[in-house]
Amino acid sequence: MSQSSGRTILVTGGAGYIGSHVVLQLVEAGERVVVLDDLSTGFRDAVIGAELVVGNVGDQALVARVLREHDVDTVMHFAARTIVPESVADPLRYYGNNTCATRNLLACCKEAGVEQIVFSSTAAVYGIPEGGRAREDTPTAPINPYGTSKLMSEWMLRDVAAAGGPRYVALRYFNVAGCDPAGRIGQSTKNATLLLKVACEAALGKRPRLPIFGTDYDTPDGTGVRDYIHVDDLARAHLEALKYLRGGGASTILNCGYGHGYSVREVLAAVGRAHGSPVPCVEEPRRAGDPPSLVAAADKIRDTLGWQPRHDDLDFIARTSLAWERKLAAAGR
Ligand code: UD1
Repeated sequence: MSQSSGRTILVTGGAGYIGSHVVLQLVEAGERVVVLDDLSTGFRDAVIGAELVVGNVGDQALVARVLREHDVDTVMHFAARTIVPESVADPLRYYGNNTCATRNLLACCKEAGVEQIVFSSTAAVYGIPEGGRAREDTPTAPINPYGTSKLMSEWMLRDVAAAGGPRYVALRYFNVAGCDPAGRIGQSTKNATLLLKVACEAALGKRPRLPIFGTDYDTPDGTGVRDYIHVDDLARAHLEALKYLRGGGASTILNCGYGHGYSVREVLAAVGRAHGSPVPCVEEPRRAGDPPSLVAAADKIRDTLGWQPRHDDLDFIARTSLAWERKLAAAGR
């Protein structure tokens, strides 16, 4: 899809859930890729077809060396901690790992003459937008340190680009779900909190039941509504962003979602259909910090990148998530 520049793409966090899916697509597209990951939450065997350098993205000497030795012209920056409640309990870890490390990475990129950056941002930068729908120009108002740590990184990217540094695309992910349709890689995170993962674990008996956090929201069935995007579509958005930047595209921020939402109960029903029996669940009070509804305005990414979703189908998302969870269970993981 993308015209390789013959130079190398550094993927930080490429052993993690989303990063590893992007690495796979880049390699399949004939790109040269090197991964930098400290394996704190990622997995060595998730990196397929690329060299893995084990280390932290905040390590400036290491990053400078990797950029130089691999002749890197593009950085895709995924490495981050991403668990909202953890960010509330330990904010400095998030500002250190997500914000300060990004600052160090940017310093190295500028120094090494990196031309473009694709950055993993998040819908958490919006906080609780009015009407539950966020456009890229909706005011940002994060309600947790995770969202703030990513927003500060966006600001650094903006300012560094304005000062002659690399151009960038910041992709604001909504709720990423599903796994590689070919079943090679997936979401292996231990103690996961994301709904699809937890629901699949409950379906397979790895957890006794799924807690539904809040049934009294002002939504059609009372449970939280989110815009679930299949990781394969999200990964492809990164390749489209790369093509855009290589074509000289201006720095920009793009929502990554399908533009419509599903409730927790709808997600559970889809996992139940994929599994062939209902997911055991229990109704619980609202989880602190959860917006009732969060859905992307999803036109800008289509207009800017020409990106078109292929898996805008909740049942497909549930099937690929469950298939991966079964594979993990069979491997005793
Ligand atoms: C949040 C962040 C997102 C981040 C993600 C990973 C916001 C707005 N979004 O997504 O940027 O990448 O966390 O930490 O902060 N639910 C249950 N039971 C469960 C788990 C979830 O009912 O066991 C419900 C939640 O209440 C919510 C929906 O499922 O309504 C999705 O939750 P989750 O998968 O945790 O993602 P978000 O919190 O939306």
